Amino acid sequence: MSTTSDPNAKRVSSPEPGASPPVLEARSVFRMRQMEGREVPIVRDVSFTLQKGEFATIMGPSGSGKSTLLHMLAGLDRPTAGDVLVSGEALSSGDEEFRAAVRRRRIGFIFQFFHLLPDLTVHENVTLPLRILGQNPKKHRDRVDSLFELLGVSKLRDRLPSALSGGEMQRISIARALVTQPSLVLADEPTGNLSSKAGEEVIGLLRDVCTRLSASILLVTHNPRDAAAGDRVMFLHDGALLPQSELKGGPFDVADVFHRLQELDV
Ligand SMILES: Nc1ncnc2c1ncn2[C@@H]1O[C@H](COP(=O)(O)OP(=O)(O)OP(=O)(O)O)[C@@H](O)[C@H]1O
Ligand SMILES: [Mg+2]
Repeated sequence: MSTTSDPNAKRVSSPEPGASPPVLEARSVFRMRQMEGREVPIVRDVSFTLQKGEFATIMGPSGSGKSTLLHMLAGLDRPTAGDVLVSGEALSSGDEEFRAAVRRRRIGFIFQFFHLLPDLTVHENVTLPLRILGQNPKKHRDRVDSLFELLGVSKLRDRLPSALSGGEMQRISIARALVTQPSLVLADEPTGNLSSKAGEEVIGLLRDVCTRLSASILLVTHNPRDAAAGDRVMFLHDGALLPQSELKGGPFDVADVFHRLQELDV
């Protein structure tokens, strides 16, 4: 973990000695990209922590940098500057292999476009992360079965993804994200490709299942209804968080989120 003696450095929380570190911590994270020959900040000085059991959402318009940020938090991309710590492990301190190892052990990722492998059955898709960890899915049969049960998808286990509805595919993606019992679940617009009703069900299920399994959730979205489901809503504008605008003490009425968006007028 890097330390700094710069008196102007942003203060970030450090765990008390002996206390467990936050599930996720972003410390002054930046991501620059080349655009039309210039280096442009896509994510700017993002700092926050996510504690065990929290369900936080980041609300931001299209192009505000949500996916770019989430990919860095998952170790799928590296910050240009700053640190990401997952359960106290600094992703920046290691190479790609180290980041992949942290990701496989600690993080479940849910994508907008599901990313299920088309030639594998639902059961094979869900248990793939276990195989990648070198574990035999048969040894975890009870846990996998109860996950299928919790998500209401037991009957779908032998189907191919092409025979599923969007809502079913996203439930399967949630099962796949949770099968390794991660402490952190990151979700990128998980309802972006679903009808309003299926989206609402998926968010409700995600919340319920993560609570039961004691996983923390960070969900990014441009949908105020999804954001309102969080215990906490952060707002991202032009790659920067607006910390004064954060909503705490949710879940919220969707009108609360709309009201805050109107106040922000960004
Ligand atoms: N590989 C890339 N190279 C250059 N610019 C990129 C790249 N990926 C994203 N961007 C730009 O970075 C900005 C943020 O993109 P990002 O995908 O993080 O936004 P987002 O908030 O997830 O948007 P959406 O809601 O549409 O998914 C956009 O202006 C986008 O054009
Ligand atoms: Mg995106």
